[in-house]
Amino acid sequence: MSEAPASTAFTPRVFSGIQPSGGLTLGNYLGALKRFVTMQDEAYQTVYCMVDMHAITVWQDPAKLTAATRELCAGFIASGIDPERSILFNQSQVPEHAQLAWIFNCVARMGWMKRMTQFKDKAGKNAENASLGLFAYPALMAADILVYHATHVPVGEDQKQHLELTRDIATKFNHDYGVDFFPLTEPVIEGAATRVMSLRDGSKKMSKSDPSDMSRINMTDDADTIAAKIRKARTDPDALPSEADGLAERPEARNLVNIYAALADMTVDAVLRDVGGKPFSEFKPMLSELAVSKLSPISAEMARLVAAPDEIDRILSRGAEQARDIARPIVEKTYDIVGMVR
Ligand code: TYM
Repeated sequence: MSEAPASTAFTPRVFSGIQPSGGLTLGNYLGALKRFVTMQDEAYQTVYCMVDMHAITVWQDPAKLTAATRELCAGFIASGIDPERSILFNQSQVPEHAQLAWIFNCVARMGWMKRMTQFKDKAGKNAENASLGLFAYPALMAADILVYHATHVPVGEDQKQHLELTRDIATKFNHDYGVDFFPLTEPVIEGAATRVMSLRDGSKKMSKSDPSDMSRINMTDDADTIAAKIRKARTDPDALPSEADGLAERPEARNLVNIYAALADMTVDAVLRDVGGKPFSEFKPMLSELAVSKLSPISAEMARLVAAPDEIDRILSRGAEQARDIARPIVEKTYDIVGMVR
């Protein structure tokens, strides 16, 4: 297969998305959102999306979807995304995502889609009853990214396979039509907390869909709730090690240290130099204090913003217009390449 053009041939542009299905978690914040904010200060145009069309691949109560989309927008802004510097919008207001996704449904192969582990996890044992949208989800995700010719996509570790598929779709499209049109997008999976684990089970990802609220920290949790969740977080009986190697077989300990490092903008080694030898009875209060100091200002700002939904809706529709200005010509060119009369 011919290679897609190097992403350096394109305008450096970041795209990423978060689903408005339930509230934002600490995993979303540390794995993705915190990096979205710093990328605004780097040499990229930044485009960030509330992916409501992805959310409905599993059932969403309509009123809750509306509220979750606005709350997520508030979460982006409260975390430091500036709508004057980044394009911030919800996916369904930019129909070009769905238009390109259809083309990609016809490029992606059934065999590729069947290998997607997230579909297998989400569909569970009852895959026959999963929506067609859930199966096609990664092709829509590729369209989200490539409809902006995005060169870089910051995400948590769990999205890696979807980004590989995005590159496969770009490569096959370019090859089949004999063009160098879509870039090979680079994943940006960086930092100490690319995979934040459940506070109750160090082998499971922290997730908004976990039935136990004690398993996660929500960005809307108050200080007492955050402290209680950290106090009750599962650990082992040993003291913390002084070097990262000592965390290898200790998933719960590793998770709490990773969270600390990511919140404090420190490396894991630097954290362990400070806390090595301490028991969890000393480390947990330190972590609580740090988490509350970093997260409380965000949750307070989110509450303030959510109280003004009209302002949020204005930001989203302005962002959608800016997004369409980029996406429309790319879809038009795609249609020309495919041979659609327009
Ligand atoms: P979603 O909504 O599940 O999660 C949003 C972002 O948060 C990251 N994340 C985590 N990172 C570390 N530890 C965790 N426990 C954790 N949980 C979630 C995710 O990796 C993600 O970066 N398919 C995507 C949404 C999407 C998208 C896109 C992303 C749709 N189109 C295009 C990038 C580009 C998803 O379900 O993310």
